Amino acid sequence: MSKLKLVAGIIIFGLLGFHCTTIAQTLESQKNQIKNSTTKIQSTMNSINKFEFQALPYAYDALEPFIDKLTLEIHYGKHHKAYYDNFITAIKGTEMESMDIKDIFKNISKYPVAVRNNGGGYFNHTFYWEGMKASGGGLPTGKLSDAITKSFASFDEFKKQFSDAGKTRFGSGWAWLCLDPKGTLFICSSPNQDNPLMDIAEKKGIPLLTMDVWEHAYYLKYQNKRPDYIDAFWNVVNWEEVARRYETALKSLNIK
Ligand SMILES: [Fe+2]
Repeated sequence: MSKLKLVAGIIIFGLLGFHCTTIAQTLESQKNQIKNSTTKIQSTMNSINKFEFQALPYAYDALEPFIDKLTLEIHYGKHHKAYYDNFITAIKGTEMESMDIKDIFKNISKYPVAVRNNGGGYFNHTFYWEGMKASGGGLPTGKLSDAITKSFASFDEFKKQFSDAGKTRFGSGWAWLCLDPKGTLFICSSPNQDNPLMDIAEKKGIPLLTMDVWEHAYYLKYQNKRPDYIDAFWNVVNWEEVARRYETALKSLNIK
């Protein structure tokens, strides 16, 4: 009788042990699955978070009366947001997800045109917003002022050449003030959503100031009068930000 009890006990103990091992293995497997999916989600979040859709640095009506509230609402909330969304879609699952956008631009000719158009649209607009402010305008000061005078003879001549770059850009595009690799300022314009950081640019340089001359930037207030929008633009330029960019660009070129 006691032998039977002993055998029965061994069998029950064995079964319990097997069952416990199976449960432990299942739990371990589930734990690994959760760990893997968490890593995957984290990796996706990191990729998306790398390229943020930054908040507009001022209120929609901050640039009134020069750039109106409705234009800014649609320009930022619809146009810029669409470029951002389409850029994120275009780079999803590619090496570009982990790259700096400036390194993508350096080799933009190797990537799909959707990246060129939407990556340009994403970057250019952020750069444009940050180059403006409420109660902006006036004149640049310090080293930037000296550099503008040196390169263009006077601030008025610089203003004329930059305005002309925007007025004469056929169709849609951007006017730019840039620094070339030797530390000299130059003005250029780019079509569509191209910019001077791209390898396809006619003249490459470090951007310091930009002006959007797509019709969506001015049509609601100025209709077909692009020159009126360009005249108004000078009242909202954030010269402190342009001067900061100039200093950063000089440092990147090791120029004092
Ligand atoms: Fe735009």
